[in-house]
Amino acid sequence: MPKINLKLFEQETIHQLKKCQNIKELDNLFKEIFSKEGELKKISKIIPTLPPLEKKEFGKEFGRVKNVLLKEFERKKNELKEKFEKEKREKERLDVTIPPPKILRGHFHPITLARKKIEEIFQSMGFEIVEGPEIEDEWHTFDALNIPPYHPARDVLSLGKTFYLKGGGIMRTHTSSVQIRYMEKNNPPFRIIVPGRVYRLDEIDASHEIDFWQLEGLMVGKDVSVANFKAIAGEFLKRFFEKEVKMRLRPSYFPFTEPSFEVDISCVMCKGKGCQTCKRSGWLECGGAGMVHPQVFKNCKLNPKEWQGFAFGFGINRLVMVKHRIPDIRLFNSGDLRFITQF
Ligand code: PHE
Repeated sequence: MPKINLKLFEQETIHQLKKCQNIKELDNLFKEIFSKEGELKKISKIIPTLPPLEKKEFGKEFGRVKNVLLKEFERKKNELKEKFEKEKREKERLDVTIPPPKILRGHFHPITLARKKIEEIFQSMGFEIVEGPEIEDEWHTFDALNIPPYHPARDVLSLGKTFYLKGGGIMRTHTSSVQIRYMEKNNPPFRIIVPGRVYRLDEIDASHEIDFWQLEGLMVGKDVSVANFKAIAGEFLKRFFEKEVKMRLRPSYFPFTEPSFEVDISCVMCKGKGCQTCKRSGWLECGGAGMVHPQVFKNCKLNPKEWQGFAFGFGINRLVMVKHRIPDIRLFNSGDLRFITQF
């Protein structure tokens, strides 16, 4: 039998015990020492083999070491428990004074914000907000608007720029199609606006998108005139831009209006003095307008001798770009929140 140094065993065990980081480690060590096949059991087997004199002394020492170790384990166990509880308490502590994480809120798109404002202004002037389908047919988009097939005007008004759908139908190239839809179903007098998305097969660049927004307007009555258009458009532009803007009508051509105009506004950047935005002209284009062509009334089964009115089509993206000095139309469809949340 090897001679066993109980003192050394005691020191060694206490050393290991001190290294224990948690209850589990401590339990494992405890088993190594105190279980049925543990170190103490092994040591105790030596006792009967010792000569009587040594046996007594060794037995006494064995008992002492065993008691010391039991106490040490107990002490360490309590210490680890306390440490664990303390850590847990700290981890779970609720600091009610910490500000909560910022909640990301949704934000209206600048086009939506413009639509709301536009609708509010026109509603206050007695206009009704009307919508129509984005998927259209050629009757409502071209023919009824007096744009014949194979007429150069049809190309100007986007036949060559039309998206044709596989199952038939086209994407509307302008909101003027809704003029027809409305007049087919309603009798004058009326005043409506149609804010809506339109689609054109264009090369995309800083000022061209394949989908953008138009603001159609139509006012029909017994004696609605160009003067009425000037007054209403002027009031709208002033309220939309929140400043005095001058408006200018230039003669133009649309198959569905006669006479037809191009509508310009004085540059909001330089107030007409001439700058980069207006290409030194002092004016910005905002859309087309004119008096409803008699043939268009006829196409909607309305008597052109009885009714007259004006129609206009402004570019909403364009209005927003001018108002907020947005340099590139592609930003609207970029989905970039840094852009959208600025408005
Ligand atoms: N629909 C025309 C366009 O898209 C604009 C317009 C509307 C012109 C109404 C006159 C009257 O270019």
